[in-house]
Amino acid sequence: MTEPAALLERLGEPDTLAAVEVEWSESLAADLPVDFLAAPVVREHAEWVGLGEDLTGALLDTAGRVREHADLRRLAQHAHWLLFHRDDYNRWQEWPQLEPALGEQRGLFFLLLCLAGLPRLRERNAQRGIPELVTRATARDFGIASGRYRRIHGRPGLEHWILNWFRLVTSGDLHRLGRVQYVQRPFRGRIVVFRHRHTHETLALAENGAWFTADGFLDRRGPEAPAEGSWEARLEEGPHEVVGVPVVARGVALREERRLSRADWRPVLRRDDTVLEIHIPEGDPYTVEGWGDSFAQAAEFFPKHFPDRPFRAFACYSWLLGPDLIEILGPEERLTAPLREFYLFPIPSGGRDGLYFVFGRSDIEPATAPRDTRLRRGILERFDRGLPYRGGGMLFLLEDLPRFGAACYQTLLAQ
Ligand SMILES: CC(C)(COP(=O)(O)OP(=O)(O)OC[C@H]1O[C@@H](n2cnc3c(N)ncnc32)[C@H](O)[C@@H]1OP(=O)(O)O)[C@@H](O)C(=O)NCCC(=O)NCCS
Repeated sequence: MTEPAALLERLGEPDTLAAVEVEWSESLAADLPVDFLAAPVVREHAEWVGLGEDLTGALLDTAGRVREHADLRRLAQHAHWLLFHRDDYNRWQEWPQLEPALGEQRGLFFLLLCLAGLPRLRERNAQRGIPELVTRATARDFGIASGRYRRIHGRPGLEHWILNWFRLVTSGDLHRLGRVQYVQRPFRGRIVVFRHRHTHETLALAENGAWFTADGFLDRRGPEAPAEGSWEARLEEGPHEVVGVPVVARGVALREERRLSRADWRPVLRRDDTVLEIHIPEGDPYTVEGWGDSFAQAAEFFPKHFPDRPFRAFACYSWLLGPDLIEILGPEERLTAPLREFYLFPIPSGGRDGLYFVFGRSDIEPATAPRDTRLRRGILERFDRGLPYRGGGMLFLLEDLPRFGAACYQTLLAQ
């Protein structure tokens, strides 16, 4: 039996071997110190991100247990290696959940690991001259995610599958500026966005070869097994004109042809162009003004601290951004009002988007899941009727920042 197999056997989770044994000998050879388990370090990390006395006490207790337990200590060292020294490892979903070894403290093992990334976040941001206020705002995610974990599971900690998210949070590439967080990334929307040279109208055309359902949402099964009524979009980008099917700003594709003369229309965004990709932390008030203020901060922050990586637009892909949400809540709710400022577009969806954020788990049973808020009721009623709940994508062009607040995409002609 190999060393990781024996260790997992002793921890009572032998089935997790395939995910754990990856790079085992490399992390053994590196033999990095596990000082993120040392009491003063744990205390400093917890204080810096503001986790509070109770949680800090629980972390210290768990860190002590892990330090004293040869198998858990070695597992923590190995996880630390995979998390912070291997950017491409992503099998946390299959990791031991440590219930046999740590019981109610199991989630704290993963919180300790994520906190181990805090020094690199602080160092990298300091090297770029990023104000500590921004680093602290970014690090609020520890408190947000552990608060959600406690709410959902009734004990302190973090889920094992969230480790990759904290790799990003502590990478120095993600920054919270006001209401939302940003990371520079290639645009993932399956659209090409054009702008009229004189009227400033914005129009997205579907990417060539994208498949859409009859109601204009992306059909991620096409072309292998398209749903009934699905169709394929064609986009021809000729020297004088572009012919394609529009994806309109309310977030759906229309099965009709549009011809755009290149003399009038210029392309402004397509797949792989650099955008500021947005993540929406839970918690603070969610308002149109909050979005606008955050965009304004980002428009200053990124050119100043990342001058070598210009971006063209803001983009986000989320359960909070699809037409299905508007259908459930109506357009004037807190959650939906910001959508009128964005150009929405469909994203691949399995039809059960965001359930973790709405119900605290992804594997809900519609018959028994709680119906205590309008959102929960609305999503479950869709499932009752055999309808999906789909998130969506949004974009907002940087050049439109002065017009934020004027719903410049949702009206036919921009101001
Ligand atoms: C954004 C957020 C702060 C907005 O919450 P809010 O201010 O309560 O929003 P609204 O008032 O417009 O909500 C409308 C209705 O939906 C409900 N609702 C909103 N967000 C909900 C959620 N996450 N889970 C369950 N119900 C929710 C509200 O309770 C309200 O229903 P009610 O009138 O019956 O009480 C909140 O949804 C949140 O924190 N979400 C998590 C962020 C997230 O998921 N990020 C990851 C994105 S990929």
